[in-house]
Amino acid sequence: MSRLQKAIQVAAKLRVEEEVRPVAAVPRPAAPGGLERLLEVDPLPVTHPLLAAWNGREEAAGEAYRKLRSLVVKLTRGNEFRNLLMVTSSLAAEGKSLTTLNLALALAQEYDHSVVLVDADLRKPSIHHYLGITPEVGLSHCLKDGVTLDRALIKTGLGKLVVLPAGEAVADPVELLASGRMREILRELKNRYPDRYVLIDTPPVLPFADAQVLSGLVDAVLFVVREGGPKPEEVQEALASLKGARLLGAVYNDAESFGQRGRYYYQR
Ligand SMILES: Nc1ncnc2c1ncn2[C@@H]1O[C@H](COP(=O)(O)OP(=O)(O)OP(=O)(O)O)[C@@H](O)[C@H]1O
Ligand SMILES: [Mg+2]
Repeated sequence: MSRLQKAIQVAAKLRVEEEVRPVAAVPRPAAPGGLERLLEVDPLPVTHPLLAAWNGREEAAGEAYRKLRSLVVKLTRGNEFRNLLMVTSSLAAEGKSLTTLNLALALAQEYDHSVVLVDADLRKPSIHHYLGITPEVGLSHCLKDGVTLDRALIKTGLGKLVVLPAGEAVADPVELLASGRMREILRELKNRYPDRYVLIDTPPVLPFADAQVLSGLVDAVLFVVREGGPKPEEVQEALASLKGARLLGAVYNDAESFGQRGRYYYQR
């Protein structure tokens, strides 16, 4: 049995059927000038070579991200729209941030999806780096210093993609991520627009408690496994610590076994 099959078997066993509590609706702000203003800007140049999901990029990987997008849309649109998703993995450097950003780009290029990407890896933020931007403020400032959400959100002009960058790195962000303010921010992002996906990039599960904390706040978890990365027992341990969250599926990243290295593969 391949490592992927083993990992998926483990995931299936550990998948918890219980529903994530629905988040109460918050009213849309009455005043104009909210997030609508963020959607009309010149597009950022997408220069990073691994942002394969952007228009006209490397075909196989771009196609794989479009397939991932379709699967995610299919799996999240039921009676209840599970639009608040986090991406994580067992270990560092398995491709969480690139998967989150490519999925966000793929969704944002679809005419009817606005997407907010939240960089909640406050230890080692990288979304701004992949987009080639240097934000002044971000999530950590919203959590620590009372900066408003609207001030920290960044318009990308890439489809309907808006980014909430991490802001200043924080040595131990668990308390901030577990705070009521974090809950409020996610609730506001989830509920402001009914058709929106909110994708959250996180640190790896095994070394830190951050992803475990966040998994209690989201509708579902997308789990990245890099080929040649974690051992099956590490995947098992990571998934066990996310118990209580809904596992949407696994992304098998950087997979040589599915052809040319650098392709991406998704399987539920
Ligand atoms: N599919 C891929 N093909 C080629 N290189 C990849 C792929 N996925 C990841 N990488 C490489 O791995 C590096 C780490 O990727 P990424 O930042 O997405 O991982 P991460 O899981 O978010 O890491 P961290 O745990 O440090 O946040 C990238 O800079 C890239 O060099
Ligand atoms: Mg990362």
